[in-house]
Amino acid sequence: MRIPLEPASGVPLYRQLERWFADAIRSGALPLGSRLPSTRGLAADLGVSRVTVTTAFAELEGSGLVVAAVGSGTRVAPVLPTVAARPNPRPVAAAAPAPAAEAWVDAWAGRPGGPGLIAFTGVGDPAAYPVVEFGRTLRQVLAREGAAALSYAPHPAGDPSLRRTVTQLLASQGIGVPPESVLITSGSQQALALVCQVLVRPGDTVVVEEPTYDLALRLLTSVGANLVGVPVDDHGMRVEQLAEVLPGSKLLYVTPNFQNPTGATLSAARRRALLDLARTHDVPVFEDDFAGDLRYSGRATPAIKSLDDGGRVLYAGTFSKLLMPGLRIGYLVAEGAIRGRLVEAKQVTDLGTSLLLQRALDRFVTVGRYQANLRRTTRLYRERRDVLKQALETHLPDARFTVPAGGLFTWVTLPPGTRADELLVAARDRGVDLASGERFYRNPDDGLSHIRLNFAVQPPGKISEGITRLAAAVEHLRGR
Ligand SMILES: Cc1ncc(COP(=O)(O)O)c(C=O)c1O
Repeated sequence: MRIPLEPASGVPLYRQLERWFADAIRSGALPLGSRLPSTRGLAADLGVSRVTVTTAFAELEGSGLVVAAVGSGTRVAPVLPTVAARPNPRPVAAAAPAPAAEAWVDAWAGRPGGPGLIAFTGVGDPAAYPVVEFGRTLRQVLAREGAAALSYAPHPAGDPSLRRTVTQLLASQGIGVPPESVLITSGSQQALALVCQVLVRPGDTVVVEEPTYDLALRLLTSVGANLVGVPVDDHGMRVEQLAEVLPGSKLLYVTPNFQNPTGATLSAARRRALLDLARTHDVPVFEDDFAGDLRYSGRATPAIKSLDDGGRVLYAGTFSKLLMPGLRIGYLVAEGAIRGRLVEAKQVTDLGTSLLLQRALDRFVTVGRYQANLRRTTRLYRERRDVLKQALETHLPDARFTVPAGGLFTWVTLPPGTRADELLVAARDRGVDLASGERFYRNPDDGLSHIRLNFAVQPPGKISEGITRLAAAVEHLRGR
């Protein structure tokens, strides 16, 4: 098929494809009921990734112009909708802004004629979400299981089959636990919320890395925890400082892999030392492994949970970063007496995570689609990490920055004299969004010399352009 695509136009390729097919269908060039080419064949013909084609087809399906049938590909719908079947989705770049940025993002999107928004915020790239494959899986589950998949989850701790599947994923990381120790949660955020509900009372001390994931800080603050921070360097939390602050604490919260926001990975020696201290002072550890399988270089370091023989570590994983955040499915590994209290907390909180989505995810993983998607995503994000590194070296030579072995985030230490809060304003004036370092500290002023860039969201060309604009914003601040 000859479809003219313009990679340099600024319009995502999947959107160009979608528009081309929509026009062809509406004009009658593609007759009602006719078959679209296979995603694999079309991707090869056009020299684009299969994800680009599947995303375009998914958009067409969402607008009712095509129907995808299991085993027989995608066809033009037998009857065309007269109006759009659903509201327009947000532009890809603005898919997952931080809440505080939303008003600004909307305002920017409404500016006529300006340069497009380039957001280094959010989670992964929505264009990489397996929209079509997951849609197919959902339909298969509904066809096989019918209304049973739409009921309340009979097991508040999670669908037994998904829990078994999760134990297999865990076993591949050296974490050997039975399915009964796995609690399915609505994302790892809920896993932390449940642990807070069970373990933390107002005034209790909780030890966190500094900087750390902003929504963990907000959650812990909302339950009245007294937060104590331990600094992070290139090898993660500086565990030698833990001994001073751990005694008497109720919880230690740590993100050992590709930390949010610094990208740092906690060294193996520090993992052991951390666990020894937690044992000595009898403090439970919450290990937040939010992106552990998104590895681009180096070898995996053993999970703290894999070193734990006393059920002291509560290990949380999630499918948000490895697959897609809208699933809202994560899991918490908890052993011993606390397990029952956590299941009770889960049940009274939401009666269980969506059964339909648990069943679909289970199938998606067991037939290997999850793993295939993860391999694609890892390739995509690795390239983007490297493009960002190159762009920062070229355009912001005075800045220091981390090159994480995986995950989503690069942590930039700004050139002397540049403040993150001012840079955020100047960058937004140029259509670039980022996370100012203030969000990740108990005392926001401590983060003023840093920004966090998510390298996974934008395609390579946009990353380079975004960093060029960011460098112009830094120059503007210097020249005042
Ligand atoms: C470190 C960390 N933990 C947990 C979460 C929560 O993720 P979810 O609730 O989608 O699993 C995030 C989300 O960005 C994160 O960065």
